Order: sequence, then structure tokens, then C-alpha cells
Amino acid sequence: MNSKKSEYTGSGLTRRGFFAGAAGAAALALDQRLALAQSIASGRTALTVDDIRGWGHIPGVVDIGDNENPYGPSPAAVRAIAAHMFDSNRYDDDCVRELEEAIGRHLGFPDPEPPASRFALSTLPIYSECSSTFILFQVALHYGIRDGSGEIIEAEPAYGGVSGYVQEYNRITGSEVTLRRIPTTDEFRHDLDAMLAAVTPNTTLVVITNPNNPTGTIVPRAAIERFIVELPSSVTVLIDEAYIDFVREPGYQDCVELSQRYPNVIVTRTFSKIYGLAGTRIGYATAQEGLIERLRLFGNSQGLGNVNARAGIAALTDYDFVRRVLRSTNEVKDWFYGELDKLGLRYIPSHTSFVIVDAGTDGAALVSRMAARKVMISRLGMATDPRVRNFIRFTMGTPDEMQVALNVLREELSA
Ligand SMILES: Cc1ncc(COP(=O)(O)O)c(C=O)c1O
Repeated sequence: MNSKKSEYTGSGLTRRGFFAGAAGAAALALDQRLALAQSIASGRTALTVDDIRGWGHIPGVVDIGDNENPYGPSPAAVRAIAAHMFDSNRYDDDCVRELEEAIGRHLGFPDPEPPASRFALSTLPIYSECSSTFILFQVALHYGIRDGSGEIIEAEPAYGGVSGYVQEYNRITGSEVTLRRIPTTDEFRHDLDAMLAAVTPNTTLVVITNPNNPTGTIVPRAAIERFIVELPSSVTVLIDEAYIDFVREPGYQDCVELSQRYPNVIVTRTFSKIYGLAGTRIGYATAQEGLIERLRLFGNSQGLGNVNARAGIAALTDYDFVRRVLRSTNEVKDWFYGELDKLGLRYIPSHTSFVIVDAGTDGAALVSRMAARKVMISRLGMATDPRVRNFIRFTMGTPDEMQVALNVLREELSA
């Protein structure tokens, strides 16, 4: 999906270049050692980007731009990948059904009937695919776009995956699917009242990203349910719960149950965030059986490879890893908030693995300046809303990655 892990072009550093340059690295290493010795002597830690060894990444880059899991993939998933890679010569007839059954257990669904035959698909109202992105696009294509037209409502700022896809669809096919981006509230929460007021007889699909990316905000399930009840049942509601595992509000209820009670509601999730499996590309949707059947029809039947599906099954019960990721993410986030407070920078408290910060200066330019210093942050989802022109988004990396990112941010802001 993303070549920068093996090839960093921003400064001309490539994996090949890195190794080729290793012979000449002695002077650099000496410099680094001197700097370290000085910092130890002075009692200050002076980590620089050159000290960073990001998991799954070339050294010397702080990559906290894509909301990936900085703690690596779930170890249980890695063990499953190792155990099953030698079976790759076989069609694995059971792996996708077993993954969907494992997701069913994870969501607390009743056990399904045993499979009727070797090739039987899952009878659960769960549909897994190669990434939640693929499912978002499928939903846009098959529920948002009707006969080349339709009207799709999405908040602003928000993830915008569906809106981006539909813009491309319009461009390539010459269609005129309407996109309505509805500003979030002053606290950057989905403004469900305004979204409801924007519905017209042509509306086909409403997208709610909850928690929202990039704002990190949540809306209560009760408010989402009121919204669904008010909406004509011909309008599909897509609730993207990519970051639901990171919500910090005690007792917060997700929308899976709504997806089983209302025939027009689809909830999507991903293994890319909490389980650290972004490269493995596993996402799923849950909805009533009719919707799931249609998604399956338009999907890539048994599209997940056996190695990926088995990794997903293992990750779902890797509770130690999930606990560790949550604990570390929250500790880093709280520390980061404190540092931002010291800098006097405004941020939006987040229920996700990332935080957006008002840098008080043009966000896009700042992201480029930090990238030139090999600190990759992002403005994804903030392209058009003028309220977030100065905002930048930090994925919560490891403590070292965050320390370096903060040092570089501080220097850039005082330059
Ligand atoms: C809100 C949201 N939805 C969906 C995705 C895509 O996830 P996946 O890796 O499953 O395609 C992302 C990825 O960053 C996201 O932020």
C-alpha cells in the first residue's frame, strides 16, 4: 500500500542507500555517540531522528502520519502467519468462514450453525474483506451511487474516504453523484442534527466515522440511534468504527447492536489499528443479513488469503497485546497533552490513537517542513475545512518517536 516503509524519498534516503552508506557510517556513529555522551553528561536526553528505529520501518524516520500501530503486529498474528505460510499452495476453504466466526465471538454474537458443507460461507451477519477501505468503497458504489447518481452526506472534517472515492467515480465516469460535507460542531463532533437537516429525497448514504478521524471525537450511541430513527429507511447509514477500541469513555457503547436492529445500518471495522495488521489488510462489516448478502455478492468471494485470515483469527484473542497497545497509547497521549499544554498549543482530546493540534501556522506547510526533517505527520481529512487550516495530526508513536517529533515541532515553531 505504501512504499515509504522501504524507500524514503523525502531526503533521498532509500533502504539500498542506507545499507550502501553503512560503510561510511562510522563518522556519523561517532557523532551520535558523542552527542549521546554529552547528553548523558549534561543529564538531558537529546534523542534525534537518527536514533529512531520504528517497527517495520527503515531506521532514522519518525513515521507517525498514517495511524499505524507503532508497537508492531500482534505477536499471536505473527505466529499464525509463520504457522500457515507453508500452506499457501492450497485453497483454504475454511479460513474466511472461521475468521467471520471468530469475529462473531469477538462481537458476542450467538454461535452459528455448523457449516453445511466444506465450501459453506459463514451464516453470521458478518462480512470480512481485504481491508475496511475496500468495504467502504463497496458501500459507496452499491448503496451511495444509484444509477450513476445519488447523494452522499459526510461530516467535515472527517475521514472522507467515501467522499474521495465518489469524487473519483464522478471524474472517471462523468457521473454527478452529489456530495454534501456537513461541518462538525464547534467541538468538532458530528453535527447529527445538521446532517439530518441536509437529507433530501435524493439522499442515498450517510457516513458517520465514530470515533471520527481526524478529530478523535465521539458521538453517543443514543444520538446515533435517534438519527437513524429519524432518517428515511431508504437511506443507508455507514458507521465506520476503525478506532472504536481506543475509546476511553467508560461504558461507551459501539453501534454493532444497531447494525443488527436496523435494516439500513452497516458498521465497519479494521484490523489495521489495534491489532497492528495494516499491511495484512483485514476489515469487516456487520449488518442485517440482506445487506451482508449483497456486499458478499459484490465482494471478492473468499478474498482474504489463508495466511491473512489466520493472522486475523489469532489477533482477535491476543488480549495481552491489545492491553499493552491501549496502555502505551494512553500513556503517550497523556504525556503528549501535557507537552502541548506547556507549549500553549490547542489540541482536541481524542478517543483514538492520534491527536490533532492547532499549530497556529499553516498546517500543510508545517507537515512538509517536518517531513523534510524525516518526521512524518499528516493533515489527512483536513483538506478543505478552513477551521482546521492550522491543524496537524500526530499518530501516537512510541515514547521515543513522540519525543523526537515534539523536539522537531518545537524547533519548527520557533524557527
Ligand atoms: C476512519 C478510517 N476508516 C478506515 C480506514 C482504513 O482502514 P483499512 O486499513 O482497513 O483500509 C482508516 C485508515 O486510516 C481510517 O482512519
